[in-house]
Amino acid sequence: MDTVSVENEVIMADDGIVKPVAGGRATIDRDNRETVGDVTAKNPRMRCREVSVFYGEKQAIHDVSLDVGSNEVIALIGPSGCGKSTFLRCLNRMNDTIDGCRVIGDISLDGDSIFDTKMDVVQLRAQVGMVFQKPNPFPKSIFENVAYGPRIHGLTRDKTELEAVVHTSLDRAGLLDEVKDRLGEPGTGLSGGQQQRLCIARAIAVNPEVILMDEPCSALDPIATARIEELIDELREQYAIAIVTHSMQQAARVSQRTAYFHLGDLIEIGETNQVFTNPHHQLTEDYITGRFG
Ligand SMILES: Nc1ncnc2c1ncn2[C@@H]1O[C@H](COP(=O)(O)OP(=O)(O)O)[C@@H](O)[C@H]1O
Ligand SMILES: [Mg+2]
Repeated sequence: MDTVSVENEVIMADDGIVKPVAGGRATIDRDNRETVGDVTAKNPRMRCREVSVFYGEKQAIHDVSLDVGSNEVIALIGPSGCGKSTFLRCLNRMNDTIDGCRVIGDISLDGDSIFDTKMDVVQLRAQVGMVFQKPNPFPKSIFENVAYGPRIHGLTRDKTELEAVVHTSLDRAGLLDEVKDRLGEPGTGLSGGQQQRLCIARAIAVNPEVILMDEPCSALDPIATARIEELIDELREQYAIAIVTHSMQQAARVSQRTAYFHLGDLIEIGETNQVFTNPHHQLTEDYITGRFG
């Protein structure tokens, strides 16, 4: 998929024409919508190939190919409406729940197509968990919020095992110490940052492989945001994480790879540091320097 490569101050476009690069930076035709950069991950958990999404007649995602790898955080950035949430929702078939939404292309989890008729979508959404912008605990106790998933998926044999899973999940989500003496109280009574960590604990409780986060900190204050960012870094040891963020600072702090979307196209993907300090596509540069978006 790598259609443009930057080497030694020259750039080879896929038409074979070598163009000089000013200051080592590729100046690429802004109408070129082929993805720049390496879409593959070292240890891919999920692979998306030529994924397009339509809402009715309107195409929201155009031929996007991208891997989400083990033990990495990939940040999806780009101006509002560029398709970040739509793309994220492809990964656990959440778009199935939207009337008139159609997804085409190939998406696999550990080599198995998520569109296979044998794929159990409820199971898929446990393996590929999701955390939303606004914390959305169930109107139940803290304990029940976390216990719900393991119970419906039959992951535990008895009460002792269930309690252990709830405790471990709250602990991994960095919330246990704050709530262990009031597990019976409503989840909705927690602070915003605690509620978001509760939602992360709920996702973790069903043994996911991938965790999707759609602007998980945008409703939180800076202290709660910092706590979630630390947590994301810890969770990376065990999970593959894809996070949508409108904050470039957050993308720079938490992610190892960054994907820049523009009007439904994946414009550029690369190491986060490279994308922010030496973007290879003009549109990426326009966005990160604040000229656009
Ligand atoms: N449920 C929907 N029905 C119709 N169009 C939608 C729906 N959700 C998103 N879109 C459209 O798809 C495009 C991408 O939206 P979205 O994925 O929400 O972008 P982002 O998350 O980057 O802001 C936008 O043009 C948006 O209006
Ligand atoms: Mg969005």
